[in-house]
Amino acid sequence: MASCFISSILFFSAIFVFLSTTPSFANINSKNVTSDRVKNICNATEPWNQPRCYEFYKSDPRSSTADYKELAEITIDLANSDCKKLIHWLNSLAKNETDHGYRRRYLQCSKHYSEAREKLDAGKKYLEAKKFETVEDLAANAIEDSNECIADFAKVNTTSTLLNKAKDFEFITSFVKPAVELSRKSDKVTKKPYYYTLQLILKKWVFHP
Ligand SMILES: *[C@@H]1O[C@H](CO)[C@@H](O)[C@H](O)[C@H]1NC(C)=O
Ligand SMILES: *[C@@H]1O[C@H](CO)[C@@H](O)[C@H](O)[C@H]1NC(C)=O
Ligand SMILES: *[C@@H]1O[C@H](CO)[C@@H](O)[C@H](O)[C@H]1NC(C)=O
Ligand SMILES: *[C@@H]1O[C@H](CO)[C@@H](O)[C@H](O)[C@H]1NC(C)=O
Repeated sequence: MASCFISSILFFSAIFVFLSTTPSFANINSKNVTSDRVKNICNATEPWNQPRCYEFYKSDPRSSTADYKELAEITIDLANSDCKKLIHWLNSLAKNETDHGYRRRYLQCSKHYSEAREKLDAGKKYLEAKKFETVEDLAANAIEDSNECIADFAKVNTTSTLLNKAKDFEFITSFVKPAVELSRKSDKVTKKPYYYTLQLILKKWVFHP
């Protein structure tokens, strides 16, 4: 009876240990939480905007476990997909518009966002190559492209929907910079110091000429 009791305890403990160490079990709840890394990136914006920033990272399930470089990539991906939607919307607006002046402006705007998208695509490649400064510059240029779209409308009558969509795009894209900056810092920390490499080479040379 006693040994039966003890083996039951052992059996259930084993199940508990198994379940709690299985990654999928541990991750079920973490998918929907904001990681400290995301919080550090979102800290770049004003406190009242931070919940909006968290929500936007939550829309990509990779965010909860991503490191800074992956978060920079996610940020670019989210900005890119928002930009793609904006282009489709602008093209559709232009198609429906009967006023020639407005139609031309919508198409012009769509072109600015196509340029912004090219910069984001390039930014992703430079991120892969760890050319962090270039990624930051490209993201800043993509935001400028969006500003140019709005500037083209400023003299006439910018629709508030367009303004809001442009601001959303700029909001998302503004987090590329802090994400890249934190990637750069964490890359420096994990990189082995120079003398370490030198030591390895010397060792090889001295002991295995
Ligand atoms: C994540 O949390 C939000 C509220 O914070 C909720 O609306 C959403 O359904 C949750 N998603 C999952 C997958 O649990
Ligand atoms: C968040 O930003 C504020 C002001 O920019 C700064 O003082 C604070 O140290 C930052 N917090 C973290 C955790 O980075
Ligand atoms: C353009 O018109 C089509 C058909 O009338 C409509 O479905 C679409 O939503 C319109 N596009 C925009 C951006 O308003
Ligand atoms: C501003 O735009 C709206 C919607 O496109 C239009 O109905 C309105 O007439 C425009 N106003 C002026 C002053 O052009």
